[in-house]
Amino acid sequence: MEQRSQWGTRAGFIMAAVGSAVGLGNIWRFPYVAYENGGGAFFIPYLFALLTAGIPILVMEFTIGQKYRGSAPLSFFRMEGKKAEWLGWWGIFVSFAISTYYAVIIAWAMKYTIYSFDLKWGSDTEGFLFGTVLNLADTPGQTAGFVPGVLIPLILVWVIVFGILFAGVKKGIEMANRIFIPTLVVVFLLVVLRAVTLPGALTGLEAFFKPDLSQLANGTVWVAAYGHIFFSLSIAFAIMITYSSYLPRKSDITNNAFITGFANSGFELLAGIGIFAALGFMAVQNDVAVSEVATAGVGLAFAVFPQIINEFPGLNGLFGVLFFLSLVLAGLTSLISICETYVAGLSEKFGISRNKAVIFGAGLASIVSLLFATRGGLYFLDTVDYFINQFGVAAIGLVEVIAVAWVFRKLDLFKTHADSMSDIRLGWWWKFSLMIITPLVLGYMMFDLLRQNLGKKFDNPTGNYEGYSDAFIMGAGWSVAIGALVLGILFTFFKWNGRAL
Ligand code: PHE
Ligand code: NA
Repeated sequence: MEQRSQWGTRAGFIMAAVGSAVGLGNIWRFPYVAYENGGGAFFIPYLFALLTAGIPILVMEFTIGQKYRGSAPLSFFRMEGKKAEWLGWWGIFVSFAISTYYAVIIAWAMKYTIYSFDLKWGSDTEGFLFGTVLNLADTPGQTAGFVPGVLIPLILVWVIVFGILFAGVKKGIEMANRIFIPTLVVVFLLVVLRAVTLPGALTGLEAFFKPDLSQLANGTVWVAAYGHIFFSLSIAFAIMITYSSYLPRKSDITNNAFITGFANSGFELLAGIGIFAALGFMAVQNDVAVSEVATAGVGLAFAVFPQIINEFPGLNGLFGVLFFLSLVLAGLTSLISICETYVAGLSEKFGISRNKAVIFGAGLASIVSLLFATRGGLYFLDTVDYFINQFGVAAIGLVEVIAVAWVFRKLDLFKTHADSMSDIRLGWWWKFSLMIITPLVLGYMMFDLLRQNLGKKFDNPTGNYEGYSDAFIMGAGWSVAIGALVLGILFTFFKWNGRAL
């Protein structure tokens, strides 16, 4: 067995944890989620979710990784044997699924970084995205052949990821984050500074911050806040346990969790300001309401932003390059963290070298990712993303918290462990949040999600997510979410390589 990897410095660990947390979610998801769910008033449920679920779970996962010093499955195994181990594998398979399509989005962002130089997308940015770039198939479910233009940047993404993972935890992951994260902060600050000085920026910021206090009485707003916090902090998908397992034996756990949590939120807030300033500019240019142009995800980044860049008062290309480069950097550091979950898990369970685990794990992920580089890729991506987040990440969060807090009753032990080496001591709020608040909110959330999805309660002809057919929802949604759980349980049955234990 190789000697267990370790971070070189505390700052290196924090950089890596922040690198994982700060991802596409901060830039293209948070601003719109906040805007849709009460604007300025959203900060109340958001902060509540951060302080009662996000940071408490982050402290818990940092403690698990640091204390048991293993990948997610090994840490859970050391905690409570096989009846806990499956939770680690479940997280890993969810991570695996996410990594396969996350890489593709980064590939698009790379393409658009290059396109920015000559505003290649022309005036019909939507037509360009769905027609020229993605060559989107007519019906969900068919693959209809590869899109060569996506294939090449996708290979580049995987080459970078392989290179960093091969180089190891300290020389690869830590080093990459030490370069990428400060660069990202500078580049993104430039984007935001330029955005807020555009004509019309204020209109956008007003729309973003205008508090709709009536929304606070709305349960879906609170659920949105919790759902976002989970995804945004990279908790409950094995990542933070894996990263903290490389901490030295004496490390401040609680403080690191607070720093990571607040850094991620700070970046989100910054993104909200930048994105809505830019949307305000566009709304004013076209004499429409901000609500007409506000959106999230693929549409925001690759259709609306190119249009904003088109209308830019000078240096459009530069603004575009900086914006898409931000997406690439934020995405890459998250992708690396998610791949590391299965690299660590595979190498420990089967006693293979780190490099072999990279070849098997990331190798398979890169092959699967080709599916999303087909003409039907976007439909698959959208559906897998929805199901794996709701019935993967959020579901694991619920089960993990209940298992650790109620079934295995580990919170006192963890509190003693974290307190013995952290500046900040954990107060009663920590236990209370994990035992009561998080299970209640996540439990309600899961119930509501199941009711909506199983009851076909979406407001469209099929009643399914995005109006997709039953067969497609089955094949690309449920089977992936349930598959992650089943594979997780299956892997628990394999024998541990003796040297790992
Ligand atoms: N925390 C990331 C974000 O906000 C989510 C993520 C992490 C996605 C790791 C993939 C891998 O975007
Ligand atoms: Na995030």
